[in-house]
Amino acid sequence: MTASTTAQIIDGNALAAQLRADVARRTDALKARGLTPGLAVVLVGDNPASQVYVRNKVKACSDAGLHSVLEKYDASMTEAELLARVEALNNDPSIHGILVQLPLPAHIDANKVIESIAPTKDVDGFHIASAGALMVGQPGFWPCTPYGCMKMLESIGYDLRGKHAVVIGRSNIVGKPMAMMLLQKSATVTMCHSATSDLKAMTLQADVIVAAVGKRNVLTADMVKPGAVVIDVGMNRNDEGKLCGDVDYAGVSQVAGYITPVPGGVGPMTITMLLVNTMESAERDAAARGLV
Ligand code: GUN
Repeated sequence: MTASTTAQIIDGNALAAQLRADVARRTDALKARGLTPGLAVVLVGDNPASQVYVRNKVKACSDAGLHSVLEKYDASMTEAELLARVEALNNDPSIHGILVQLPLPAHIDANKVIESIAPTKDVDGFHIASAGALMVGQPGFWPCTPYGCMKMLESIGYDLRGKHAVVIGRSNIVGKPMAMMLLQKSATVTMCHSATSDLKAMTLQADVIVAAVGKRNVLTADMVKPGAVVIDVGMNRNDEGKLCGDVDYAGVSQVAGYITPVPGGVGPMTITMLLVNTMESAERDAAARGLV
């Protein structure tokens, strides 16, 4: 039997703390020039998970010194009323980022609402203009979760050039933008999904694997090349109700070179990148107003 190795853990909490300290420092610098970065979070309805998410987002803002407003509306809010609120926030100079928490009630067209957000304030990176900008390599906001994954790779000094990255999952908010970001860093990218016929054959070739499916044990030790970097975006519950990712952590961490844990991996990076995007939006505004 060959000796097993133990992967190095990429600590999302530590990296998030470091990046949030940088956001706080840049916020102070902007405030000294008379501009406070502001984020508006809009929640419609009473989805319990969404309530927790938005509370965490607002708290992260205040911890880093950003201004934030939380607008909560009843589930009966009409689409027209929500579009009017977004329009008002688009025109509010104290707001640099607008986040409409998803999912929205079924009677509201989420795509229409997202497309109504000014791309200059689309700190979620969900607008078609943001997706297009990422695809063609133009400046714009990157979706927070894959952006956070890129920061994790950067934190270990990983050079993606010429490496084979396999992304499992093709969602608009993680899988697809993740592939674009990896491609932009000159990785060779393979996208796998529910119709992929031989996932293991793909992942065994990978130097980097990003698992973003939302299902436990999508990636097991026998599917990973020794030394590969494994990023786990999943957020699931196991049979005991404990939080777990898409990766069989116990097994894969014996084979991989680096691995992100769940919890404490990608999770804390997502809100962090929201703060970074909001801060960058405010810095662009300050530059446009001649404040820097
Ligand atoms: N719902 C779950 N995650 C997110 C997110 O990152 N942004 C928005 N707007 N809604 C979400």
